[in-house]
Amino acid sequence: MLNTDVLKQQLLDWRHELHRHPELSGQEHHTTENLKKWLSEYNIKTSSWGLKTGLIADIGSGYPIVAIRADIDALPIHEQLSHEFRSIHTGVMHACGHDLHSASILGSAILLKAKESELKGTVRVIFQPAEETYSGAYDVLNSGALAQVSAIFGFHNVPELPLGTFATRAGAFYANVDRFKILIKGIGGHAGRPHETKDPVVVAAQLISAVQTITSRSINNLDTCVVSITQVHAGTSWNVLPEEAHLEGTVRTHSAEVRKTVEQKLKQIAQGIALAYSVDISVDWDNGPAALINSTPWAELSQKVAQAQGYEVQEAPLYLIGEDFGAYLERIPGAFVSIGSASTYGLHHPQYQPNESLIFPAAQYFAALATQALETLHTNNEV
Ligand code: NI
Repeated sequence: MLNTDVLKQQLLDWRHELHRHPELSGQEHHTTENLKKWLSEYNIKTSSWGLKTGLIADIGSGYPIVAIRADIDALPIHEQLSHEFRSIHTGVMHACGHDLHSASILGSAILLKAKESELKGTVRVIFQPAEETYSGAYDVLNSGALAQVSAIFGFHNVPELPLGTFATRAGAFYANVDRFKILIKGIGGHAGRPHETKDPVVVAAQLISAVQTITSRSINNLDTCVVSITQVHAGTSWNVLPEEAHLEGTVRTHSAEVRKTVEQKLKQIAQGIALAYSVDISVDWDNGPAALINSTPWAELSQKVAQAQGYEVQEAPLYLIGEDFGAYLERIPGAFVSIGSASTYGLHHPQYQPNESLIFPAAQYFAALATQALETLHTNNEV
């Protein structure tokens, strides 16, 4: 018989251990070893599915299969807190709460194991590496571990939400996060004789203004779209016009169509300005993580289960940040949810300090959600 008070304390201890030994994306070797060891203490078998870091555990048997996912990586941030389980790795910190996510999903795995014989299928528990670099979800997808999975669920803690609060939404939730680099190649020369040059600085100024018209004049203003130029580099002296200017920025959208339109429009504007000013402009567009789109029925089930578990349920706002869980939801139906962690300082802040009492309720929540998702699939015959 599982003693929940013991488990509660155990999850906190494990979270502290993870927090003490944070590891960067793709380097979560010690974390993976720990997770493996802790799960084996509860007779839960794990498999790597060929992943270098991270691991996967199955509870129950047969079909359908639903997955629950925790991310396990930390950030290159130097912790500025002095609690007893502070990071011992200089310059690395669990500043996004993935230690809490891991501890919660460990708890779900153990709670599910205790009721394994009652499960109507398999719960596949994913401890995913490298969320922060937006590559881990693709590694898990490429491993084949999700090929037979009918639904997938995951969460992020949200510092702005009070403890005991839950939020999600049907449809678009997190954004497409894309990045672009622009190189303007002109002809440098004497600042006093600009007519002999093709000044890339003036061209950069035109381009910076012109790309702002993409959101205001090319995209339906009811759609979300942000275009931000975040870096401008040119020149080395006060009296020399440089040969090149480099710009960099990001585009945030929620629909695939708007995403494509922005890319096309950005390239078109660059070409037009290049022609007008007789310079060369190249645009290098890098598709980042896809927008996270929750399936409506699973988002509704996730809300229903949260209500039953005693959470205060809210409608989540749209986010313009990214979450690589979106890659799963491009291929598998499911839902991603927010759980309040009530931290004064936000995610990725060196003094971020989430309230860890969210762990056990979150563990119970995902055990209940996975169980009910299996039952729903079973009833609907979606096996
Ligand atoms: Ni995170």
